[in-house]
Amino acid sequence: MPTSRQPLSTIADIHAERVALGKVTIAGWIRTRRGSKKFSFLEVNDGSGGKSIQVIADAALPNYESDIAKLTTGASVRIEGQLVASPGQGQKFEIQASSIHVYGFANPETYPLQKKDMTYEYLRDIAYLRGRTATFAGVFRIRARVSQAIHRFFSDQGFYYIHSPLLTTSDAEGAGETFQVTTLPMDKLPRTPAGTIDYSQDFFGSPAMLCVTGQLEAEALALGMGKVYTFGPTFRAENSNTSRHLSEFWMIEPEMAFYEIEDNMQLAQDMIRYVVKDVLDHCADDLDNIIARNGVDTREYLKMALERPFVRVTYTEAVDILKACGRTFEYPVEWGEDLKSEHERFLCEEHFKAPTIVFNYPSSLKAFYMYQNDDGKTVRAMDLLMPGIGEVIGGSQREDREDVLVEKIKAKGLSPEHLDWYIDLRRFGGVPHSGFGLGLERLLVWITGMGNVRDVIPFPRVPGTCKF
Ligand code: 4AD
Ligand code: MG
Repeated sequence: MPTSRQPLSTIADIHAERVALGKVTIAGWIRTRRGSKKFSFLEVNDGSGGKSIQVIADAALPNYESDIAKLTTGASVRIEGQLVASPGQGQKFEIQASSIHVYGFANPETYPLQKKDMTYEYLRDIAYLRGRTATFAGVFRIRARVSQAIHRFFSDQGFYYIHSPLLTTSDAEGAGETFQVTTLPMDKLPRTPAGTIDYSQDFFGSPAMLCVTGQLEAEALALGMGKVYTFGPTFRAENSNTSRHLSEFWMIEPEMAFYEIEDNMQLAQDMIRYVVKDVLDHCADDLDNIIARNGVDTREYLKMALERPFVRVTYTEAVDILKACGRTFEYPVEWGEDLKSEHERFLCEEHFKAPTIVFNYPSSLKAFYMYQNDDGKTVRAMDLLMPGIGEVIGGSQREDREDVLVEKIKAKGLSPEHLDWYIDLRRFGGVPHSGFGLGLERLLVWITGMGNVRDVIPFPRVPGTCKF
């Protein structure tokens, strides 16, 4: 074991000049070692930030031959020494080691992270080690920063953080993409006399599933607490193998009493800007590393998002733009058809070159709970589209008129009885209200330029893969 228990300094604190020169102790993992007969140069990283630190180990150290000369990428160490200003180029500080304790070696024959450029696909198969790489540790630090910024933003704006249930009996989005939860024996399902599955014997006495949204419960609390938001895992059994879909992702869902669709758009813009500014102010090293690795300079459009107001365009106008643009898309553009990723990206990346809010979608494309416009054809839905990813936010003003809501529930083939409590919210002191859902991973893809939602969540769940 290490000889002394001097408190550890983090490498992030050292680079931020929060650690005095002189005696210091760090612990971390070897990124690289370059050795000579007289010295080893160790590049050590402890995960505290985007930068590593150089450590110089003199061959005179007692365990030089037995330990230090054998250190390879991935080995874990505790280092005591002198923190000094570095005479070398490219770094401000270095540590001259006085003792190095090796916690564990990492056999270079079998350690999967070697210093060559590993593809993101390769790294997904060893996701349990991605936190050891500069790129992924950086992405996950930005993810932590973004999550905290979102909480801070809502808290500062007077929102209450609420917890909506993950187990539910309603497929609120009506898309039929739910994971069922049951304790019934799969090999001998109980049957009713009519031959259907007897869910009265299931754990909750009815079919249950993992939530696809926390919105309906958030609405219930907003109509009493004013402004609330949820921030939690969300489950969708969509069989889409794309760079934008996860089976388990994290969604932030604010819900506000007395907000109409324009207020909702303004809130979405304010929130995104707050988060962007926070990342630019606090995650510079990580963002630089990630941008250098991907060659996608996201800073440019992040700054643009701070400077230019988000574009607001109706679905009908968006369809006209797409039809007139002269581009041949893989999927045709027709009023009444959903916008595909290629259309969304054309609008925000090429046409407007800015974050773009498309609103007033055809009712037929959207969930039952959205406010019906007077034209009888469109609802007060809004999607926020971002360069590099497309839809990041989906939201709406909610239908607050009881009769219209009941009609819409029936028209979508759902049962008003099942949603009785939700309709009650309109019967008892209902008010105009609005909200939206922000996909955390899609936001992170936009911020980092990582290109795939699987690479911004530590352990991605997608069709066919639920490892780690
Ligand atoms: O547009 P969606 O389906 O909206 C809702 O769920 C509403 N209940 C939100 C609300 O109004 N409270 O999903 C919201 C966002 C999408 O814009 C997208 O960013 C993300 O959630 N999302 C996904 N992210 C990753 N993988 C998936 N399979 C996703 N499905 C939706
Ligand atoms: Mg959507």
